[in-house]
Amino acid sequence: MSNIPSSPWPDSTLALLSDGYEFISKRCRRYDSDLFETRLLLQKVICMQGEAAAQLFYDNDRFQRQGAMPQRVIKTLLGQGGVQGLDGEAHRRRKQMFMSLMTPEGIQDIAALTAEHWCAAIMTWENRDTVVFFEAVNDILCRASCQWAGVPLPESHVQQLTKDLVAMVEAPAALGLRHWQGRLARNRAERWLAQGVDDVRARVCPALETSAAHVMAWQRDQDGELLDRKVIAVELLNIIRPIVAIGRFIVFMALALHEYPRYRQMLQAGSEEELTWFVQEVRRFYPFFPAVAAVVKQEFVWQGYRFPQGRWVLLDLYGTDHDPRLWEQPEAFQPERFRSWKGSAFDFIPQGGGNHHQHHRCAGEWITIELMKVALRALTQEMEYAVPSQDLRFSLSQVPALPKSRFIIGNVRAKP
Ligand code: HEM
Repeated sequence: MSNIPSSPWPDSTLALLSDGYEFISKRCRRYDSDLFETRLLLQKVICMQGEAAAQLFYDNDRFQRQGAMPQRVIKTLLGQGGVQGLDGEAHRRRKQMFMSLMTPEGIQDIAALTAEHWCAAIMTWENRDTVVFFEAVNDILCRASCQWAGVPLPESHVQQLTKDLVAMVEAPAALGLRHWQGRLARNRAERWLAQGVDDVRARVCPALETSAAHVMAWQRDQDGELLDRKVIAVELLNIIRPIVAIGRFIVFMALALHEYPRYRQMLQAGSEEELTWFVQEVRRFYPFFPAVAAVVKQEFVWQGYRFPQGRWVLLDLYGTDHDPRLWEQPEAFQPERFRSWKGSAFDFIPQGGGNHHQHHRCAGEWITIELMKVALRALTQEMEYAVPSQDLRFSLSQVPALPKSRFIIGNVRAKP
């Protein structure tokens, strides 16, 4: 049995804050190993990266999710009692509820709704000198996600909800005020959505039978009981929050079009395939979630290393998507690479790996790809715009990352 390489420092939390997305890959390079051990938030943790590590991580017999997430993530990003912390049969049932919404028709519906909101938004942008693209896209996605999910959203509530959804994503890694704003945002949104569940159940506000609000309001757990309204609020937020979070990828996509302008022309008359390659490369290349967490269910040995029961384990998503053994020139932005990508479930994992139904892989990955394609068509085929001088840099130590200026555009014109 070999010893897992371990960090000489008693705790690496400060290093995690400064290295951000590169925390795991830097140390794997340093120790010339796919895994190493350290402490984060004073707790022992095994960090790992690469395709083989991802395959191991998604073995449901070896890892569980219960107890894997720190309170600061649960209180902001995830909420209490949601699908992310479930295991076994409880997870299978709950995940099935999410996946039942991800039918080709469901995905087509949200894509069509979002395209309508893009059209309306572009017209309003024509009357403005400049538009902060991040905020404007979040607004589109917030409206479309609530409409699709069957959650009535009064006009007066759009701005606050959009801000709250963004705050929840920004809070887990934030310190001080920004962290607490994320907690408040979650409490406010959960209260509002739980009230909506009562309305759906009392048929005060009938939701479309195929909508998330309806499906969730009438979902039953293993014992045949309706889900608690607070849990439904958490799960509805697991739909609308991440749909709005796609706005970050869309900003990075606009940045990619700006920094690699040769693709713009190709995409103006782009085939469906070419649009997909571009979207996939944006999801691979730009940072979003750095890692996912689990806990060892029962002691086992892997590649000669002992994983003790209860050990916290992190899988590096960003590092695996930039692993030079899997991706030629990983630091180059090359959508064409997806022409020959064979589609392993463990080498390209911006939204987790494994199987969407059986594992914790992101339930909304197909929606993400479709809504990014809707945005890419809008950016290349439906509008013209200028990108005034601004600070477009982003830092890999800031989680979640975003260009400093949040991408400002001007002189917007709808294409005839
Ligand atoms: C899980 C990323 C969009 C719903 C996850 C996970 C990641 C992720 C990393 C965890 C995987 C794991 O634990 O193994 C993202 C990113 C998105 C995105 C980067 C785009 C910005 C979406 C969308 C939806 C969604 C649009 C819903 C419409 C979920 C749900 C889970 C999940 C419900 C929990 C799945 C489970 O625990 O079984 N996502 N996601 N996500 N995502 Fe996404």
